[in-house]
Amino acid sequence: MAYQKVKGTFDLLAKDLYKFNLLNDLFRHFLDLYGYSEIKTPVFEFTDVFKKDNDTSDMVTKEMYTFSVNNKDSLTLRPEGTAGVIRSFIENKMYADPELPIKLGYIEEMFRHENAQKGRQRQFTQMGIECIGDKNPLIDAEVIALGYFFLKTIGLNDLKVLINSLGDNDSRLKYKEELIEYFSQYKDELCFDCQNRLLKNPLRILDCKNDANKEFVKNAPKMKLSKESEEYFDLVKHYLDVLNVPYEVNDKLVRGLDYYTDTVFEVISTNEANGAQSTIFGGGRYDNLIKEMGGPDISGIGFAIGVERLIILADAENVFDEYKKEIDCYVINLYENPDYALEVLEDLRNNSYKAEMDYYSRSLKAQFKSSDRKNARFVLIIGEDEVNSNTITLKDSLTKAQETIKHEELIDRLDQLLEDYYE
Ligand code: HAM
Repeated sequence: MAYQKVKGTFDLLAKDLYKFNLLNDLFRHFLDLYGYSEIKTPVFEFTDVFKKDNDTSDMVTKEMYTFSVNNKDSLTLRPEGTAGVIRSFIENKMYADPELPIKLGYIEEMFRHENAQKGRQRQFTQMGIECIGDKNPLIDAEVIALGYFFLKTIGLNDLKVLINSLGDNDSRLKYKEELIEYFSQYKDELCFDCQNRLLKNPLRILDCKNDANKEFVKNAPKMKLSKESEEYFDLVKHYLDVLNVPYEVNDKLVRGLDYYTDTVFEVISTNEANGAQSTIFGGGRYDNLIKEMGGPDISGIGFAIGVERLIILADAENVFDEYKKEIDCYVINLYENPDYALEVLEDLRNNSYKAEMDYYSRSLKAQFKSSDRKNARFVLIIGEDEVNSNTITLKDSLTKAQETIKHEELIDRLDQLLEDYYE
């Protein structure tokens, strides 16, 4: 039987890998612009890093790849980036840095045992940031802005930023009780998952895929923010306005993970290419997580972007068209001895021209076809005459102009042609 990849995993082939690399480069550029340093944490951690007491999220309760080797410690492939980064922040005592907040970014593979479908994988990649050690609405707005402007710079248009406040611990606790009381009347009408969530995390019912559109869910009581949380949220909105980040307040936005407090946000796509998986990135503030994990009582905020979803959308908006893989020069060798062509090829590469040649001295037509397929800007033709006179016949694929030049003039001539073209 032929080997097959595991369901929910994907090979990244050349036709997509360059997109992935372009996005990685651009994201790293944004990390740099906003003062973030990259961090790499292990692919697996002790299970407790991700699994906290009373956690009700699907990710922790149903989707983790947990294993142990030789019946030793329970280990888990990371399902998300935040918990591992916080573990590292605490273990490496980064909180002692006089320059808080610490701003960390990552591009890492994550693993969740979910129902695999378009835009929902079991191994996927997140680009994320965590800004740890300070709580200030300026930071919340800046974190959202970083993600939003990154997506805009890629060239995505059909975006919507949704924000909400889950309030501070006290107001959320009160709201939870209110919701438990309210939803208990409708318990039988809730989906199986929400019946289980009812007592532990009734907020999740508000944005449950199955229940959110039911009338009684739409009419559920709204969260009453404390004065402090309300002022905080107002300032986040104000700074988003100053930064020119358009947003919509959505009081049903709760987010799937349990650790959020105050500001939460998602960026969704209104383009249909992503199917049901319209959330490109999500994140929020976490006031309790660092302390819960054994660190000091400080707050953090972050987000993570799903890279594979991003590629589906960017493809639908044709943003990669201008980055199609191409080479600068294709050397057509018609002479039986390839030595001269090989020297020319090396010359090109030594001068930073991306170059390839035909290895088999095929017919002129076949070699021209290859150079077309590879989108070569210049075609260099080498036959018996060129070898004997130490020349090269150079064809510009864009202008179709053709000329024969001396070998030693080649690089200067190519530089000149490009300079003229870009002027
Ligand atoms: P999350 O909402 O679970 O948040 O995931 C963030 C993003 O990862 C999603 O919006 C989506 O684009 C992508 N994603 C999630 N699951 C999958 C999947 N199965 N297949 C493909 N893409 C997926 C977090 O993970 C938080 N750690 C974000 C965060 C950082 N909050 C604070 N700091």
